Amino acid sequence: MMIDKRVLLGVSGGIAAYKAAELVRLLRAQGAEVRVVMTESAVQFVSPLTFQALSGNPVYISLTEVDAGNAMGHINLARWADVLLIAPATANIMAKIAHGLADDLLSTLYLAATCPVYVAPAMNQAMWSKPVTQENIAKLRQHGVGFIGPEQGSQACGEIGLGRMSEPADICAYLDASTGSEVQGLQGLRILVSAGPTREPLDPVRYLTNRSSGKMGYAVANAAIRAGAHVTLVSGPVALPPPVGCELINVETAGQMYEAVMSRATVCHVYIGTAAVADYSPVVVQAEKIKKQDGLLSISFQKNKDILAAVAGLDAPPFTVGFAAETDALEQYARGKLEQKNLDMIAANWVGREQGGFDSEQNALHVFWRGGEKKFPLMEKSALAGHLIELIAQRFQSADRA
Ligand code: C5P
Repeated sequence: MMIDKRVLLGVSGGIAAYKAAELVRLLRAQGAEVRVVMTESAVQFVSPLTFQALSGNPVYISLTEVDAGNAMGHINLARWADVLLIAPATANIMAKIAHGLADDLLSTLYLAATCPVYVAPAMNQAMWSKPVTQENIAKLRQHGVGFIGPEQGSQACGEIGLGRMSEPADICAYLDASTGSEVQGLQGLRILVSAGPTREPLDPVRYLTNRSSGKMGYAVANAAIRAGAHVTLVSGPVALPPPVGCELINVETAGQMYEAVMSRATVCHVYIGTAAVADYSPVVVQAEKIKKQDGLLSISFQKNKDILAAVAGLDAPPFTVGFAAETDALEQYARGKLEQKNLDMIAANWVGREQGGFDSEQNALHVFWRGGEKKFPLMEKSALAGHLIELIAQRFQSADRA
């Protein structure tokens, strides 16, 4: 593990502030240069001297102080950072930065920062699950802020629940995985991504769908945008904010997704099929609502076209990446699909297990291609998508794609 970065660590006022001291020690041990900014209330929990000694740098608390000293005015401090990490992040600091308030040094630095921002929240479980906190979290995620934790467990207040700050070692591991090398080689390329579930109507009011949330596909689209690609996202019905900076095409059925993807596949360089496309659709969509009846109800289904296989089967196919969600024999099924569908790469994950997969914030992937494989451990889908895009860029560039 190596965090060869300039980390600006914001410490806000919660009991977990004491863990931030260990965090500074670990970050420095892994090669990071660290400067610490504390909120006024953080100073009530831990002395700035502790952070000064551990970071080897002056600790900043007030805006006027920083700007008066002018060796490192607040804008310079924001510019200096490769990463802004707020740990612990209280409900209050998250609310402030989610709304663009800048009434102290840390919130001002957030506004001025152009580097990636991560927060490691810490708060009482009831405060964490309060709808307004959840709204602020959703807003921050939408603004590209990465979340590290919080964890489940016993809390300083004596309660048990979600809200404990992640352990410093886990925060470091996360930063290491998320702030890796910049993705090279996708700038200007056209990348087509499919995401989300499809809906197959049975009658005017009912449909058949699956548990896909679209989170992985949207994270992949965002990572590709960050890597400088021109991204088109064909999406089934999801409850996610549209990625900024891509063309978004909303579809409902597998048939519509097939049309939307195939009409663009010939002009793209890379196709990433993350969508959980329905394998079957009803032969007949009833014009009227199906009425309750005695006995069994039979509905006949017909197989849908496989979009991924159709893209890979084009005369001049793009670099084609599939996903495989499996409940058993992951490698065998994934490698089987790689061959049968003639893909360049397949990213497989377990579903139906306790963690990760459908509708979760986190996922783990085992990626296969002919002659190689790579495993990514359980992590936030946004970080995972970054790694996947990096791997796709490497494989896409390699002369020997087959
Ligand atoms: O064969 P299976 O459905 O498990 O393969 C999953 C992969 O195939 C995913 O990448 C999914 O997007 C794609 N797929 C597709 N069209 C279908 C079914 C699956 O593109 N009709």
